[in-house]
Amino acid sequence: MIAWRDELNIGVETVDRQHQELVRSLNEFLEACTQQKGKEKVEETLEFLIGYTVRHFRDEEELMKESRYPVYADHKREHDQFVQEIGELRQQIRDKGPSVLTTIKLNRTLVDWLIRHIQKNDQQFGDFLRTQKA
Ligand SMILES: [Fe+2]
Repeated sequence: MIAWRDELNIGVETVDRQHQELVRSLNEFLEACTQQKGKEKVEETLEFLIGYTVRHFRDEEELMKESRYPVYADHKREHDQFVQEIGELRQQIRDKGPSVLTTIKLNRTLVDWLIRHIQKNDQQFGDFLRTQKA
């Protein structure tokens, strides 16, 4: 489980709101896996997580393009990699079912990635937007 904490806010309201929703849906997926709620529930929560992630990344990337963010390409690459990883996880669950060990291991990867990405890359973007407005 990830608990939302203030330092995860990047100071851009729409993005922060979406990040909180992203964390919420990731937690829901984690819970479905760790409590062994069954393949259907695991797949359902993962589908939601993937859909939400894709929409959120698209919105964030739009904001970046609008503000002519200079490291947009690098940032987008990170997003694309994450979407690919999460897609591989979906495939793995489809093929083999949500085995406890693989899901816990992969969940850690997702959580670590998300937290690191928000704190480093998204925070950088928040800082950039603030300098633009100043
Ligand atoms: Fe991002």
